[in-house]
Amino acid sequence: MSRSSILVTGGAGYIGSHTVRQLVERGERVVVLDNLSTGYRSAVLGTPLIVGDTGDRDLVARVLQDHAIDTVLHFAAHTIVPESVSDPLKYYRNNTCATHNLLERCDAAGVRRFVFSSTAAVYGIPAEGLAREDSPTLPINPYGASKLMSEWMLRDLAAASSKLRYVVLRYFNVAGSDPGGRIGHSAPTATLLVKVACQVAAGVRPSLSIFGTDYPTPDGTGVRDYIHVEDLASAHLSALDYLQQGGASTTLNCGYGHGYSVREVVKMVERVNGGRALPVAESPRRAGDPPSLVAHAQRIREVLGWVPRFDDLETIVRSQMDWEHRLQREPGLTRN
Ligand code: UD1
Repeated sequence: MSRSSILVTGGAGYIGSHTVRQLVERGERVVVLDNLSTGYRSAVLGTPLIVGDTGDRDLVARVLQDHAIDTVLHFAAHTIVPESVSDPLKYYRNNTCATHNLLERCDAAGVRRFVFSSTAAVYGIPAEGLAREDSPTLPINPYGASKLMSEWMLRDLAAASSKLRYVVLRYFNVAGSDPGGRIGHSAPTATLLVKVACQVAAGVRPSLSIFGTDYPTPDGTGVRDYIHVEDLASAHLSALDYLQQGGASTTLNCGYGHGYSVREVVKMVERVNGGRALPVAESPRRAGDPPSLVAHAQRIREVLGWVPRFDDLETIVRSQMDWEHRLQREPGLTRN
């Protein structure tokens, strides 16, 4: 266990808050920086929260100095693929430009370890829908491009500076909630399939649109590699251990290595919801969506020794359903 301080940007958000919870549980000293644009105060358990922007130069410099930060986990970002297609500059500003600012401040402050939340969207449409870390990076939406540019900045900064080492984690499709039920994916306007389908099952939304039924996939709907948020969070702790032990900078896929179609996810939500049919509407394809995106997932296990514990779609959906019910019982959770 390290006694140095860790800055978590976006630590009040969905994935960031699960990671913060795990870090605090193992006794790390953590500071969260989050502008609460999509995060919630109630998600930050047992650690100081500074409300502000990763793009705020003075604030970031002050936080790094005041808290003697030597490690940064950078989650803060916009993440919605279709929104990035309709409003690309929002994504380049908040993802790429803000990361540039953060890296500049980290370099000046002598930060030594950096874990970056990247995305499978950097691959675009990989051959046979399966992405290896060395597959070509050809994003098909501005979200993927905004993250890939950040990867490049990080790579080039680390090459130019002997101090900073990094792990880039390319997330596949995160889903589910804290198995202990303390935190979860709270944003009511979320667009992620598992979340939306569970909201429909819980009666919070009237119906689910299936975006595209004519993809070249076994049942015509999009295929994704759904990873439980608790496993994704633990990959960050493994990445930190790796860097603390002197590991070299590296880029790793973070998924399970197998995919489910939209229809398969819908079926599982129906099963978990007592067999009740979900109201669904077949809709046209959504802008920026690849047909299939599944991780080649071996490298992260070899390099970090990461062992996922929740690789099971039913477990993922159950935890998400439980969280939707808690949100219904306690609407105060989403008041900031
Ligand atoms: C998600 C992430 C993105 C990441 C990508 C990696 C978010 C908001 N998105 O995007 O950051 O780069 O995983 O693969 O974190 N679908 C429906 N109906 C819906 C919602 C989705 O049919 O209401 C379908 C989509 O068309 C797609 C699949 O479900 O085929 C998954 O979509 P979604 O959950 O939105 O995630 P991604 O767009 O893959």
